[in-house]
Amino acid sequence: MSNYTATAIAHPNIAFIKYWGNRDARLRIPVNGSISMNLAGLVTQTRVTFRTEHETDVLNLNRVAVYGKALERVSLMLDLVREMAGLHLPAEVVSANNFPTGAGIASSAAAFAALALAATQAAGLHLSEAELSRLARRGSGSAARSIPGGFVEWKAGESDQDSVAFSIAALDHWDLVDLVAIVQAGQKAVGSSEGHALAGASPLQMARVQDASRRLDLCRSAILHCDFDALAQVIELDSNLMHAVMMTSTPPLFYWEPASVALMKRVPEWRRAGLAVCYTLDAGPNVHVICAASAAAEARGQLLQVAGVEQVLIARPGGPARLVSGYDRAIEHGISA
Ligand code: PMV
Repeated sequence: MSNYTATAIAHPNIAFIKYWGNRDARLRIPVNGSISMNLAGLVTQTRVTFRTEHETDVLNLNRVAVYGKALERVSLMLDLVREMAGLHLPAEVVSANNFPTGAGIASSAAAFAALALAATQAAGLHLSEAELSRLARRGSGSAARSIPGGFVEWKAGESDQDSVAFSIAALDHWDLVDLVAIVQAGQKAVGSSEGHALAGASPLQMARVQDASRRLDLCRSAILHCDFDALAQVIELDSNLMHAVMMTSTPPLFYWEPASVALMKRVPEWRRAGLAVCYTLDAGPNVHVICAASAAAEARGQLLQVAGVEQVLIARPGGPARLVSGYDRAIEHGISA
C-alpha cells in the first residue's frame, strides 16, 4: 500500500486583485481574474494515503478528527482524483498548518492546493502545474493560485479548462513583505463560499467586475516593474471595492472591525510620510500590510503600537506547492517548513 501515499506542502496567498463572485459556483469559475502573492513561512502540510483499512474517507486536521461539511468538501476533491485515476479506495488525510489556527489567515487556499497535489501523487497521477491549479480550484477558488510559485495570476477563463493560475514573477523577483496585523483571531462569521454567492446581489458588483481588467493590468505592470506606489494605489482600491460589494450585498457582510478601519486610515498616512506600505483585506478583519522589505521593521513597530493589533505575522513571497519526502511533525507545533 505504500505506493498509495504522498505528502505535499503549500502556502496560503494574499490577493492583490480579489476574486469575489463566481460565474459557475459548482466549478468555481470566477467572474473576474485575480492576482496574488504566495506567503512563505506559512504552510499547510497534507499527507494522503489511499487504503482499505477505513470504510470512508477520514480527515485529521491539526491533530483533531474532523467530520461534517469540512470532510465532505475534502471527499469531493478526492472523488475527482479517484475518478481521474480509476481508483476506488477511501483515503486517510492528515493535515496541519504551522500558522496559528483561527488567526484569520485564509487557510483553504493552502489546504486545497496541498490536498490536490498530495492526492493526485498518492493516486499515481502526475499532473502538470496547470492541471493541478485547475483541480485545486474545485476545492477553493483561491487554491488555484497556491499551486504556482511567487506572484501569481488566475485568468478567470470561461470553462473548467481555461480557468487556471500561473506565475507572472518568481518569488525572488520583488522583495515584498506581508505583515499580517491580527486584530481578531477566530473563525469568520460568513465563509467565502457563502459570500461569493451573495456578490451578485450587490448593485456595485457589476461596476467592480467591469473595471477588473484595468486593475489587473495596473497590478501586473506594478509587479513586473516593482513599482510600489502603483501597487499601493491599485490594491487599496481593489480591496475597498470588494468590501463595498460585500457591505451592499443582501444580506450585507461587514468584515471590518474598528481596528481594521483604524489601520486603513493609518497605513496611507505612513505611506505619505515616506514609508513604503499599503493595505489589503480578504474576507475577514485582519489587515495585510504589504511593504517593501526595507520598510518592514519600522512598519511592524508602528503596527504593534496601534490599539487592537494583537500580533503581527511576517511573510515573504513564497514558492509553489510541492511534494515532500515525509510528514514533518514539527509543522503541527507551529514550526516553519
Ligand atoms: O477561495 P475562496 O473561496 O476562499 O475565496 C477567497 C476570497 C478572498 O480571499 C476574499 C479574495 C481572494 O481572491 O483570495
